[in-house]
Amino acid sequence: MVIKEMGGKTMKAMVVFAFCIEYIKDRVMERLSQAIHGLDDNDVHWVVTVPAIWNDQARQFMIEASEKASIGKDNLTLALEPEGAAMYCKYLAMDKKEHGDETELKAFDENARFMVVDLGGGTIDITVSEVLSTGQLREIYNATGGPWGGNYINDQIIKNLKEVIGWTVMGKLRSDDFDEYLELLRDVEQRKRSVNYDSELSIKISKDLLTKIEIPDAYKLDVQKEKKSIKLSASLMKKIFSSSVDSMMKHVEGLLEMKETREVSTILLVGGYAASDFVQRAFREKFHKKYRIIFPLTPDMIVLKGAVIIGQLVEAIVGRMAKYHYGFGLSTTAVSGRVISIGEGEEKTFFSLIKKGQKIKVGDVVTEYEVRLKAKSKWANLEVYTTDEEEPQRVIDEEHFTKVGSINVKLPQFKKESILVLTISYDETEFKVVATDRNTGRCFVGNCRFLEKEIKPSSD
Ligand SMILES: Nc1ncnc2c1ncn2[C@@H]1O[C@H](COP(=O)(O)OP(=O)(O)OP(=O)(O)O)[C@@H](O)[C@H]1O
Ligand SMILES: [Mg+2]
Repeated sequence: MVIKEMGGKTMKAMVVFAFCIEYIKDRVMERLSQAIHGLDDNDVHWVVTVPAIWNDQARQFMIEASEKASIGKDNLTLALEPEGAAMYCKYLAMDKKEHGDETELKAFDENARFMVVDLGGGTIDITVSEVLSTGQLREIYNATGGPWGGNYINDQIIKNLKEVIGWTVMGKLRSDDFDEYLELLRDVEQRKRSVNYDSELSIKISKDLLTKIEIPDAYKLDVQKEKKSIKLSASLMKKIFSSSVDSMMKHVEGLLEMKETREVSTILLVGGYAASDFVQRAFREKFHKKYRIIFPLTPDMIVLKGAVIIGQLVEAIVGRMAKYHYGFGLSTTAVSGRVISIGEGEEKTFFSLIKKGQKIKVGDVVTEYEVRLKAKSKWANLEVYTTDEEEPQRVIDEEHFTKVGSINVKLPQFKKESILVLTISYDETEFKVVATDRNTGRCFVGNCRFLEKEIKPSSD
């Protein structure tokens, strides 16, 4: 994958991401080293947060970018952003509970279900989690909303400015004085943040540009020229924010009507855009009767703070849902129950191991199977495939399936059949299949990575 810079040049995304991670890492290490004498790379564990909706390839991409930035796999945890948010909030003291003389401060009750709404720059991401009796969290549902994040507001403001200033004038500003254009974008971002329900928005405009502006009739009520700026009326600002907030509210309302969210008691708003007065008002108005709504003081920092907690307790999050079906692709002559006869046929059949939507545990054995393998050859190659389909079809083809790895299993030569115990475990970085031969005790390990590249299977 390549990324285009504004001037049109392209660069490999991997290089850009690795460079960014390395930059941050170096800065942090520099600062930490000033405080902690003798600190070295291995003393620091890194947590990279990713959106919950990212697929395994995207996650794998971040892992490799981190590796390129010299963050080894052992020092790296990938955390899902809503999990970070939920984790932080679980640590927040929210409820005051009286027990005789003692007052206990507790964020969530056991089995409480809560919804995290992450309002970032791009999309809004929603996750529902449950607090287990062990204090751990389990994800119940996740979804992503439309592109109604904070950047949408900026785009709308700019769009209105373009209508007022003129698209050609703005285009010319962009091509002739890019610095000034960037300054304008920055000013929009800065000032937008302090817009309240009833406030206007003034955007700094250079004198030179101001002289060229003739406010069109359609905008006379809502836009005014001032000495050094252009002022957008409170009602125009309301309209702009509503275009994002209304869609957001409809979406959340819909989600709260689903059966998965029925027991949700708390809504937690995180992400920079959650600091907006418009957003907070809308949530309060619509949901405060039925739900407890939490607006953290620094919403844009919550994911990061939660990620730090996750880094300390990597085991904190138990349940996640598989995003795909995972299974073996086998050239079988017959599958009956758990007995698989491997043949030489061209056609590969999908033998499901983990179902899409199935709860899987991080860092733990997901499932254990016993299969009897019958094959004529010395080695059996078990290929692991994923598919995004709701109901996987029986026969594997390129269109619907992706190969993510394989294991080579050596079959005993004296017996016709070998009994394999398959254990499948899943952690942040990979999905591991171990086939143990029941008779010989021999283990065969296959690692499945989620990028195209295939890892050679090993046996020991
Ligand atoms: N007070 C505020 N009012 C309105 N919007 C705000 C405010 N503070 C921050 N934002 C917006 O929040 C967004 C950034 O939020 P955040 O830092 O959570 O995003 P991100 O995690 O980088 O983005 P994403 O989650 O989409 O990848 C920006 O669009 C910013 O303009
Ligand atoms: Mg975010």
